[in-house]
Amino acid sequence: MLSKNIKETEKIAKIFLDKLLKNKKRQKGALIVGLSGDLGAGKTAFTKFVAKHLGIKDRVFSPTYVIMKKYSLPLPRGSARRARGSEYKFFFHVDAYRLESEKELLNLGWQEIINNEEHLIFIEWPENISKALPSHSKFVFIKHKNDKQRDFKFKP
Ligand SMILES: Nc1ncnc2c1ncn2[C@@H]1O[C@H](COP(=O)(O)OP(=O)(O)OP(=O)(O)O)[C@@H](O)[C@H]1O
Ligand SMILES: [Mg+2]
Repeated sequence: MLSKNIKETEKIAKIFLDKLLKNKKRQKGALIVGLSGDLGAGKTAFTKFVAKHLGIKDRVFSPTYVIMKKYSLPLPRGSARRARGSEYKFFFHVDAYRLESEKELLNLGWQEIINNEEHLIFIEWPENISKALPSHSKFVFIKHKNDKQRDFKFKP
């Protein structure tokens, strides 16, 4: 999908999220999404829109300096409950840019985090921690075309 501006990226994030959560085939443990793309491609921007559509009210910022940030998901109501179920209770935004290896994550309790079915986890720079990602992880590839245009590819 080609995004011509940030507004279109918001729409693409919504489409992606709806698809992601509609998929009934549940993996064991957390639902994990890796976001691949160069510096400034739009990984954080995309994640912020996902968080917004999930109803997270806190300001979602780039977690580069904290590696990982955890947000509570509001209890879904009405159609949102049907769409999302109440299966996910927490949203994690991880930025692995500064991580040299998977080992640093293990100290943050990573194994427990990814084994928890109530967790929805979005990870920037997943390449840096590829060994710590379960095989059922999903991916978004973002290509920086020019100032405003970005190409999004999803790998379910
Ligand atoms: N179509 C678009 N979609 C997404 N972002 C866009 C688009 N057009 C312009 N931008 C801008 O590109 C920048 C993307 O920055 P962002 O921090 O999301 O990148 P990132 O991939 O997270 O980078 P980093 O690797 O440094 O974490 C933002 O300033 C955003 O406003
Ligand atoms: Mg970022």
